[in-house]
Amino acid sequence: MTLPRAVILISGRGSNMEAILRETQSGILEGQCTICGVLSNREDALGIKRAQALGFPTRIVSSKGHDSTAYGQKLLTALSDWTPDVIVLAGFMRILSRDVIAAYRGRIVNIHPADTAAYQGPDGYGWAASNKLTETSITVHLVDEGVDTGPVLHQEPVSLEGAFTREDIAERGLQVEHALYSRCLAQLFAGHYDAVITSFQLQRGRE
Ligand code: GAR
Repeated sequence: MTLPRAVILISGRGSNMEAILRETQSGILEGQCTICGVLSNREDALGIKRAQALGFPTRIVSSKGHDSTAYGQKLLTALSDWTPDVIVLAGFMRILSRDVIAAYRGRIVNIHPADTAAYQGPDGYGWAASNKLTETSITVHLVDEGVDTGPVLHQEPVSLEGAFTREDIAERGLQVEHALYSRCLAQLFAGHYDAVITSFQLQRGRE
């Protein structure tokens, strides 16, 4: 049986990436997919060292000085070497160009540390802290041309009772993220989200 091939894109710390890589080595993703490699748009991304320490191929494709379209072309070239079926964004902080979305439409997933209907953009935990939320959500969604706007695959509530600072909130949220992302990917590879994915792919003609 050929396993689906996935590439993980990161920009920084890579804690979600590491959780996923570990689940492929012994856990819920074992035997469910092949992680072809980890790609970062930043040379200084700590996640690159973490991926290497676990024995996974890594690649830096720097986005410095490139606009979205030019970077998209660089990314497409690099990704084609790995021929991924699925692209997993895990703290990847560049907006993907329309060309990249079109090439992998319905096959790019992202994790967002908030309810995407309520908040889009960076630092979802800072947003939860400044709005004094008592509950937030972690969202796993397909990536479209917008920022954190694609169809939702799964949302998990996180109680913030007793968590007041951004740090407390992030600690709580990340714990949920680390378990949730691999679980959602396992469901994705098992075909659980096929209907949402197909419907999103069929919207192509209407844009
Ligand atoms: C995570 O909290 C992830 O949800 C968030 O960046 C962090 C990356 O941490 N992503 C977004 O905000 C996307 N809009 P990590 O590098 O330790 O996985």
